[in-house]
Formats: sequence, C-alpha cells, structure tokens
Amino acid sequence: MRIIGTGSARPSLVVTNAMLENFLDTSDEWIVTRTGIHERRVISSERLEDLAATACRNAMENAGVTPDQIDYIICSNVVNEYVTPGLGCVIQGMIGATCPTMDINCACTGFIYALDVAEAFLATKDIRNILIICAEEPTRMMNWKDRSSCILFGDAAGAVVATKGDDLKAIRVSTHCKVEALYQKRKLQPTPFVRKEEEDGGVVMNGQDVFKLAVSSSIKDIDKVLTMAGITPDDISLYLLHQANVRIIEAIQHFVQQDKSKFPVNLSKYGNTSSASIPALMDDLNRGNQLKTGELLLLSAFGAGFTTGACVLRWSK
Ligand code: UT7
Repeated sequence: MRIIGTGSARPSLVVTNAMLENFLDTSDEWIVTRTGIHERRVISSERLEDLAATACRNAMENAGVTPDQIDYIICSNVVNEYVTPGLGCVIQGMIGATCPTMDINCACTGFIYALDVAEAFLATKDIRNILIICAEEPTRMMNWKDRSSCILFGDAAGAVVATKGDDLKAIRVSTHCKVEALYQKRKLQPTPFVRKEEEDGGVVMNGQDVFKLAVSSSIKDIDKVLTMAGITPDDISLYLLHQANVRIIEAIQHFVQQDKSKFPVNLSKYGNTSSASIPALMDDLNRGNQLKTGELLLLSAFGAGFTTGACVLRWSK
C-alpha cells in the first residue's frame, strides 16, 4: 500500500487545564508534569460524523481522488451516537461514496489495525483506493468526576487515502487480553427476560498498569518491525507515536536512543484522541511539509484490549 492523502478535523471547543480546575481537584501543573497535556479539543455541539466527513473530504482532496474512486471505507471507532449502523455507513452517505464500509474497534491502536487490513485488501482485491477514517469521541466515555482519566482525552477525526504500492515495509499487530486495565461497560436496554446486573458508567482505567503495558509493548513492537524491515532506529526519520502521554513517548525515545526531534508531539494541544491521534498527527505534519518523500516513518500505538501495533512506512506522497 501507499498513502496518497491525509485529512483531519477537530472540535472547536478548546478546554484548557485551567478550565478543568473549575470542577476537578486538579491543577495545570499536575497535568502538564504528568502528561504533557495543556489543552484538548472537546465535542460540544458538533456530531462526530460531521468531523469524520470533514477529515475524509480533506484526505480525498489531498489525494486528488473523488468519492467514486474510493472502493472501500475502513472506519476505526470506539464510541459514537449510533450503536448501529456502523459509523462508516453514516460517513459513506455523507461524503457521497457508494463502496462497502467496515467498522473496527481496536481502541487507540485502530489506525495500525486499519492499515493492516488495508494492506491485505489492496494486495488481494480488485480495488483502487481505500479510505481509512479514525473518528473518536473518548470525552463521551469518561466519568468527568474521575480526575485520573478525564484529563487525558480529547476528540478528533483523522483520515488517509491508501492505494496500491509497496510503502508498507513491516507491520505487526497484537492483542493480549487485559480488560481490567482499561474498559467501559454500559447497561443495555431492559427486556422482560434479563435476570442479571449490568455495570454502567464511565471509563475505568488503571493508569499505572496502562503506562507500563504501553511502554513495554511499544518497545517490543518497534524492535520487531525494525527487524522485519531489516533496518535500525537510525534509518527512521520520524517516529509517529500514539499521543497519550509525553512521558510514554520519552520512554520509547530513550529505548531507541534517537534525537527528540524525531518524535513529533501534538498532545499538548489535543490530548489523547484514541485511534485518531496518529492519522491526525500525520495530517498536521503532511500539511506542514514535514514529511519528505522517501523517508521512513515508524508508527506505534497501544490501547484498551490490550491492543498494540507498529509499522514501518515509507512516505512517498
Ligand atoms: O490510550 C491509552 C490511554 N491511557 C493512558 O495512556 C494512561 C497511561 N497512564 C498515565 O498516563 C498515567 O498513569 C496517569 C497520567 C493517568 C497518572 O499519572 P501517574 O504518574 O501514574 O500518577 P498516579 O496514578 O500514580 O497518581 C499519583 C497521585 C495520586 O495521589 P496520591 O494517591 O499519591 O495521593 C493521584 O490521586 O496523583 C493523583 N492524581 C491527580 N492529582 C491531581 C491523579 N490524577 C490527578 C489529577 N490531578 N488529574
């Protein structure tokens, strides 16, 4: 596969750490020191599908393709207002495409999983372009009284158009069942037959467990994909890591012993936007002319599941 276009969209409301101090026992100093996050964009009046459609249109325009040239849509999403149909169906209609759509829920690792599926589809199916859209509103999953989790997240959509090519040099995805580290359960509709208690509420997260799992699994993934691609950390121009916590990014940077300038960070402005974080960061870099043709990028993400994934991708747009 080859990525030929990127797009993104974010909600208009900026929520600063100072605004959180108004209703949470927290401080700007604590949040910045522990996470690197200064502010995040939070959905207020927007609908997630509107952000997603904007990101898709931007990516198609950037790629120079029209909706009728998209032959598959892969949508990565954890939560949105529709339980059914899949968000990909809704987006397909909004952007005027007519191709099949498929939704995946691999939490924050969704973009890497979507690339893995896209690579297989492009290699085996008679299709020209795949639109990958990662659209997430994790702020709607939080318990906003839980200061250890709600401060971390923001909402966003990031999209890419992928076509046939040989830019994906190595990819690896894994799942290690560890539900208790990070989950959210919801009560389903009552029926005359249900005889069980169901849990309802916001995200439950053991931050320290997630932190340790994130660093150890990302290091393993990165090591593996570098070996699979037959290259060393020096050969990578930029490391596009899941934007969850700047301390996790620094730990990975320390492991690969590469200069800080190779680790673009935008989480200070946007927080953790789940699977949208890497494609939206990629779009920021692409539009800022910071991605150079022929350079190798390393993408790495982790999330609830516990899911993890990484890949080495040549940039040739
Ligand atoms: O995509 C995956 C999503 N999840 C993640 O990426 C989470 C990964 N984990 C983390 O980023 C970090 O574990 C956190 C940022 C969530 C927490 O940082 P930490 O350094 O692991 O802090 P901690 O959980 O050990 O808490 C230290 C203290 C506690 O107080 P006591 O028990 O020492 O008195 C917490 O109650 O900090 C307290 N605390 C806060 N204080 C002020 C927790 N959250 C806050 C807060 N403001 N927002």
